[in-house]
Amino acid sequence: MLEIKNISKVYENPYGEDNVIFRNLSLNISKGEFVNIIGSNGTGKSTLLNIISGYTNLNGGKIILDEMNITNLPEHKKTQIVSRVFQNPSMGTCPSMTVRENLSMALNKANILNFRKCLRHKTNYLESLLDDISLDLKKLLDVKVKFLSGGQRQAISLIMATITAPKVLLLDEHTAALDPKTSQEIIELTNKIVRENKITTLMVTHNLKHAIDYGDRLIMFHKGEIILDLTKDYKDRMSVDEILERFEYAV
Ligand SMILES: Nc1ncnc2c1ncn2[C@@H]1O[C@H](COP(=O)(O)OP(=O)(O)OP(=O)(O)O)[C@@H](O)[C@H]1O
Ligand SMILES: [Mg+2]
Repeated sequence: MLEIKNISKVYENPYGEDNVIFRNLSLNISKGEFVNIIGSNGTGKSTLLNIISGYTNLNGGKIILDEMNITNLPEHKKTQIVSRVFQNPSMGTCPSMTVRENLSMALNKANILNFRKCLRHKTNYLESLLDDISLDLKKLLDVKVKFLSGGQRQAISLIMATITAPKVLLLDEHTAALDPKTSQEIIELTNKIVRENKITTLMVTHNLKHAIDYGDRLIMFHKGEIILDLTKDYKDRMSVDEILERFEYAV
């Protein structure tokens, strides 16, 4: 279980005033749960993911994972248990290295201090990871990532983020920069990986259809607070228009 316990986060705005993002926010996410997070711009969604990943410090509260307090775990230790995929496809990969080298590095991230070890790989295993993916990735194993399309890169980022089965996967609008067809391919790949590996997942999205069609739960944020928390049963009965209505009501 991932427990977000009474967290508070305050930034200072350019005028030196406090910008309160969260005030005593609490949220429990069950093991293996796939949670979608929606909400208007600037409402704290990315900040929440930054806090869970250890990139951003808290002003108060705790993050507990499987009864272990991970709030102040150094970021390099946290990457062993919490993985992220960002909106920008170039953020999760090393562009001047090949797909094979990127995947090998992700597979060996525990050996990050030994670069030679990091690049050891099992070709059959790497190829098997790319087997069911319709973006021609298997043919591209020895191509540098910088030559891949945004969708292909995002697929590689997703595989790299989940290759060592993290305890928590954080997706921050990871389909937003993709064309509709590729976006659909990536969300389906996401669903497959998350379900097969039963990874506890928080997916931030502005795509309300994805938020309804995938995942076990739908949470809407507004000004750092949870204003809607729907179970799968409820969510499955809602239309995009109904969600949009709640959204407009909140904004
Ligand atoms: N490093 C920072 N320093 C100061 N203020 C910040 C910082 N990071 C975020 N903020 C502020 O925190 C608020 C929430 O930002 P956040 O990026 O979490 O929003 P969001 O919900 O992810 O929005 P979007 O949908 O646009 O991605 C915004 O007012 C933003 O300006
Ligand atoms: Mg954001």
